[in-house]
Amino acid sequence: MNILLTGGAGYIGSHAAVVLTEAGHEVVLLDNFSNSNKSVLKRIRKILGRSLPCIEADVRDTDIVERVLREYKIGAVIHFAGLKAVGESVANPISYYANNVQGSINLFQVMQKVGIKTLVFSSSATVYGEPKYLPFDEDHPKNPMNPYGRSKLQVEEILRDLADSDSEWKIACLRYFNPVGAHESGLIGEDPNGIPNNLMPYVAKAASGELPHLNIFGDDYETCDGTGERDYIHVMDLAEGHMAAISYLKNHAGFTCVNLGTGKPLSVMDLLNAFEKVIGKNLKKVVVQRRSGDLPCYYASVEQASIQLNGSAFRSIEIACRDIWKFQKADNFQ
Ligand code: NAD
Ligand code: UD1
Repeated sequence: MNILLTGGAGYIGSHAAVVLTEAGHEVVLLDNFSNSNKSVLKRIRKILGRSLPCIEADVRDTDIVERVLREYKIGAVIHFAGLKAVGESVANPISYYANNVQGSINLFQVMQKVGIKTLVFSSSATVYGEPKYLPFDEDHPKNPMNPYGRSKLQVEEILRDLADSDSEWKIACLRYFNPVGAHESGLIGEDPNGIPNNLMPYVAKAASGELPHLNIFGDDYETCDGTGERDYIHVMDLAEGHMAAISYLKNHAGFTCVNLGTGKPLSVMDLLNAFEKVIGKNLKKVVVQRRSGDLPCYYASVEQASIQLNGSAFRSIEIACRDIWKFQKADNFQ
């Protein structure tokens, strides 16, 4: 099938592009490169042995999106494009709603106009907010704690209404837990601008000496060792989850939401120990105050994923550490 990946040059989109192409799909990327580097295209070409068409555009540019959908005879869209930094969303909510909500509405309008009604949407575990119980299943109450999370929930609600209004729509919202790792080649991975907010890229930069040490945000939570616990899913497992969602939608109209995680919480110390084992040395770390807005622990129920998507998360945290370390050490940006 011909599949358009909005935000396809980003961290998750680039891995999905590789997985889908290797499975025989024809992938087209559309990205405005606001949070990615054009060199990713060369690196994808190196992995696949051929280049993928990429249109540099904003998803809010409806004329270009319509032209791309028609010209490439797109059959399904995976909508990754969006902004994702929680702190930034608090400081600048309008740009988050404009990009994530308005951008999505524009895309769905054009899809409807052209008659393309198969969609996978990048949602987030952040839609759940504070746990009433764990693991989070898809029916858990939704109470996102910041504009970023609310923008994701609003798009989910728009999509639910859209599917209710027209039975031809086939929509899967995938709620990602904590994506980590990189492609095993070390050619593509996560390379955030500036100082990373998330744990894994921070650890990788601390290991390479780019950052002096790791700050552990609190060791007095009621968790296995006092540090925060999360559900870290390898980005390649996540990418494969998108392929499974596309297959699922072939035979299932309507609207569904599915968690993509492993179902197993790991603490900051678990992740750190795995990383230190991979690099063969101990990292400098300092325990500091809890980060405001952090939850002690959350992880996914993966029952729905195993029913609808044949459950695909199997790579270990050690593999994720190995792959991100390979990416971190490689000279990818020359
Ligand atoms: P990313 O920033 O690496 O990728 C997003 C891509 O979208 C970037 O290449 C960026 O340039 C592009 N983009 C942003 N706004 C655009 C626009 N208006 N028009 C065209 N392109 C645009 O992020 P990612 O980690 O790959 O995340 C992909 C999606 O998954 C996002 O929607 C994000 O909210 C969601 N998500 C990510 C995580 C995570 O931890 N990485 C967790 C849950 C959900
Ligand atoms: C963060 C976002 C969340 C988003 C997710 C995407 C916040 C408050 N939440 O969540 O909305 O969906 O990323 O992956 O930003 N930690 C450290 N030191 C660090 C960085 C993190 O100890 O330098 C700890 C955190 O306290 C947490 C764990 O590592 O316990 C994971 O943190 P992070 O990678 O930022 O992910 P989330 O907190 O789950």
